Amino acid sequence: MSYPFQIKSQEEYNERYKESVEHPEKFWAAIADNFLWRKKWDKVLDWNFTEPKIEWFKGAKLNITENCIDRHLATKGEDAAIIWEPNNPEERTRIVTYNRLHKRVCQVAQMLKNNGVKKGDRVCIYMGMVPELAYAVLGCARIGAIHSVIFGGFSAQSIADRLDDAQAEYIITCDGAYRGEKVIPLKNVIDDALIGNKTVKKVIVYTRTRTPVSMIKGRDIWWEDEMEHAEHQVEKDGKVTFEAEEMDAEDPLFILYTSGSTGKPKGVVHACAGYMIYTAYSFVNVFQYQPKQIFFCTADIGWITGHSYIVYGPLAAGATSLMFEGIPTYPSCSRFFDIVDKYKVNILYTAPTAIRSLMGFGDAPYKNNDLSSLQILGTVGEPINEEAWHWYDEHIGKKKCPIVDTWWQTETGGVLISNLAGITPAKPSWATLPLPGIQPLLVNENGKEVTEPDEDGLLKGNLCIKFPWPSILRTTYGDHERCRKNYFATYPNLYFTGDGALKDKDGNYRITGRVDDVLNVSGHRIGTAEVENAINMHSGVVESAVVGYPHDIKGQGIYAYVIYTGHHDAELTRRDITMTVSRIIGPIAKPDKIQFVSGLPKTRSGKIMRRILRKIAEGETQNLGDTTTLLDPGVVEEIKNGKV
Ligand code: WTA
Repeated sequence: MSYPFQIKSQEEYNERYKESVEHPEKFWAAIADNFLWRKKWDKVLDWNFTEPKIEWFKGAKLNITENCIDRHLATKGEDAAIIWEPNNPEERTRIVTYNRLHKRVCQVAQMLKNNGVKKGDRVCIYMGMVPELAYAVLGCARIGAIHSVIFGGFSAQSIADRLDDAQAEYIITCDGAYRGEKVIPLKNVIDDALIGNKTVKKVIVYTRTRTPVSMIKGRDIWWEDEMEHAEHQVEKDGKVTFEAEEMDAEDPLFILYTSGSTGKPKGVVHACAGYMIYTAYSFVNVFQYQPKQIFFCTADIGWITGHSYIVYGPLAAGATSLMFEGIPTYPSCSRFFDIVDKYKVNILYTAPTAIRSLMGFGDAPYKNNDLSSLQILGTVGEPINEEAWHWYDEHIGKKKCPIVDTWWQTETGGVLISNLAGITPAKPSWATLPLPGIQPLLVNENGKEVTEPDEDGLLKGNLCIKFPWPSILRTTYGDHERCRKNYFATYPNLYFTGDGALKDKDGNYRITGRVDDVLNVSGHRIGTAEVENAINMHSGVVESAVVGYPHDIKGQGIYAYVIYTGHHDAELTRRDITMTVSRIIGPIAKPDKIQFVSGLPKTRSGKIMRRILRKIAEGETQNLGDTTTLLDPGVVEEIKNGKV
């Protein structure tokens, strides 16, 4: 398989970019022509950003799994689609060929059908990083059920909220998941999440850890039994078939929940055709993927990076995707590079936070490994600092691997701004140029495009996109108005990303971080309001305010200011509050620092002045800016003095 839409030179990039702006519909139609359609589209694009309404390839019919699996079978049925590396390196690895993947996905589809799952039904998937997770996702897509994968680090309460929001009727989970030395009892968490739930009819449980579980009669069923039964149904005379559901281009493919500046996570909805095209297009261009290369994305499928660049993008491109169950530091800090060495990985895609944490081990992570198979490196999820970039370049890439710094979001479905490996130049800590088809711009507070460079010759503003691309989110599940308000109402006729950015004279972008109340902790998005709500659940807490502060490894740490009533042992209460947050959201949202205060800096109208709290958390004590509008300026002194 070659990739006719793979850009091979800087000149071609320039030409393609120009074409994509001048004739976007022609540009995308030419790319879409490389996919398998049951029926081609009537219209390439119909859109407005005011409602918003975005429809790509309207009238077209397809099934994404036929593109990710079936069409590769004739030429690469015996090639590895997924290579799976278990948490414990002693355990047997699994190589899943395209033929095998096809069979398993057909079985899952049949199993779901047997249990009453239909097109459009919501299936929540809460599993560890086992191949069955990929089968589950693709099995849903095969029958047109909408999957909602929830990361294994979320709590029962978070799952309950998501089940409720999506009105999910089915769950696929595991007894437990391995993460380093820990076993996470996933099924038990699901049981807690289901207390009081009224929508879920069936829970399918895959056995991974042999953690004891309780199986509720009539509701809970074993994956293994169901899959065995389904196997007999899909296999006839040695041939495997399960007719894929014919989907409309704009039918929803999945929901993925992500944090915003309000308390409740939003269910970002992606559509079948546009998401498929864009993930494949961005995958082969950004990583310059060549057939037979082994691509290792270290993300979890519970996040968008895993959806787009472990499952859909690589498989749509007929690639070999390496899936890793464990964590970078188990059994030792060289695990990522043991894996690179073991499978001769060619492309490694990871997060700056992982790089920064490995840097702390000196040369131990890589000194005993042969990394000569590596050709391209990538980062995602947060700004990468120059020090980490150079460490990655020198010690992992040995200065011969292009590094792509890929900027994108759950809502964008795929990478929007990045250099193309070895084709367009890298610039440490800069995401650099938009992919052809992507039209970013920087605006000021009033939505005016920023055109005046600052004293360093850079444009500085809020990052927006002015034209749709195929994998832009279509809505937030069950609440279109929320989608409009969140992304399309801040600046008229623009998609607002929530990020701030700089732009240099060559058109390169540097993402500086969120400008809303969203934190990026170890590459995970967490809303400050969500954490505050969780803290406020603790009895004794009167009020709280959460801000981010620079953290050497996590990028941002969580700093909480808490008003607490009565006498208390500060250390003990801190632990209790942390536990509460862990219960309500999950361990990923635990505050790093908690400071008890007697009041919060508020304006006369009662608004918390987060700017001041942020500065204090960052260690700034002098230039706190204008404090004259504060109701009680005295409180600032107290907070400064009590900084933890
Ligand atoms: C941040 C992850 C700087 C950004 C794919 C964005 C980045 C948020 C980069 C989305 C990057 C992601 N450089 N910042 N290369 N990539 N971000 O939805 O703030 O989990 O808005 O998607 O991560 O996080 P999300």
